[in-house]
Amino acid sequence: MARILTPTMDFRGSHIISVKQFSRDDVETVFDVAGSMEPYAQRLKLTRALEGAILGNMFFEPSTRTRLSFGCAFNLLGGDVRETTDVKTTSISKGESLYDTARVISGYSDVIVMRHPQIGSVAEFAKASRVPVINGGDGANEHPSQALLDLYTIKKELQSNDKLIDGMNIAMVGDLRHGRTVHSLSQLLVLYNRITFKLISPKELRMPEDIVSLLKNAGHTVIETEDMESGLNDNDTVYLTRIQEERFTTKLEANVYRGRFRLNKEIYTMNCQPNTVIMHPLPRDSREEANELDHDLNQHPNLAIFRQTDNGVLVRMALFALILDVVDTVDKTAKKVGWYTQSRFESS
Ligand code: CP
Repeated sequence: MARILTPTMDFRGSHIISVKQFSRDDVETVFDVAGSMEPYAQRLKLTRALEGAILGNMFFEPSTRTRLSFGCAFNLLGGDVRETTDVKTTSISKGESLYDTARVISGYSDVIVMRHPQIGSVAEFAKASRVPVINGGDGANEHPSQALLDLYTIKKELQSNDKLIDGMNIAMVGDLRHGRTVHSLSQLLVLYNRITFKLISPKELRMPEDIVSLLKNAGHTVIETEDMESGLNDNDTVYLTRIQEERFTTKLEANVYRGRFRLNKEIYTMNCQPNTVIMHPLPRDSREEANELDHDLNQHPNLAIFRQTDNGVLVRMALFALILDVVDTVDKTAKKVGWYTQSRFESS
């Protein structure tokens, strides 16, 4: 029998700006809907639930995964996508305000995803928008859909080891000061119980104090360290991040920290549990001087980074289905695909 969902948030027509909006039931609602999207993301079925709807995919900062997976998710639900990929090709570069841009684009779209380098910019944009806006990353602040897909992945990976999110140990490694994915993931994990966080970073790039306090006040254990080897011990998940070069004043400043914390097969085998799940929001910086997650782990069964990206499509489909209120219409409009297709998801 299907579980009865009790979301506390009315997803219909809502902006998704911060993970702080979510209750634990809301998160589980997103996960349940995401699971139901698998046959569509796998191309086993087609749906026209969002036929006629238009996504405004507004990216004012570089992106591969977030932009393309939101676009892909909308297409898979039967909708169309219009997008910008660079501030230079929009009239913001001619001095147009976020307010005017929001008023204009929301006249063209039914829902908008926006990424922008300034903290708070997506919230400002959403205030002027006539349609729901999803935060695709606002500077070093938040990346809520990434946190949802990360937590969805953690849940699935731990389930296959007969473990739960409650009571898990997680190490977060790298640039925890500027990394919006670890900010959002940590704040989402506040909703769960008895988690041990090992925060491994240079002291200049520590997790912001307000987030550390939030975790401690919620009863979680927080250990901050600069010692990678001890920090890697006894974790269910290790979540690596790159040095966020674009948030530093100069490249030279970022170079001070690049390559300081690296995971490769040898370090993993020596310090981690045999079933520790390896995660990274991507992009990983594979340049020799950085290389925080080595390619010699690419074939390791515990490397979940491409299962994360696969799960991103499911979670983003779920957000669209909930916000545009078509969860029940997805299966009603379903049909089989009429073209050759292959199984493609690592996460299935
Ligand atoms: N994880 C993530 O946000 O990747 P992109 O910058 O490629 O969108």
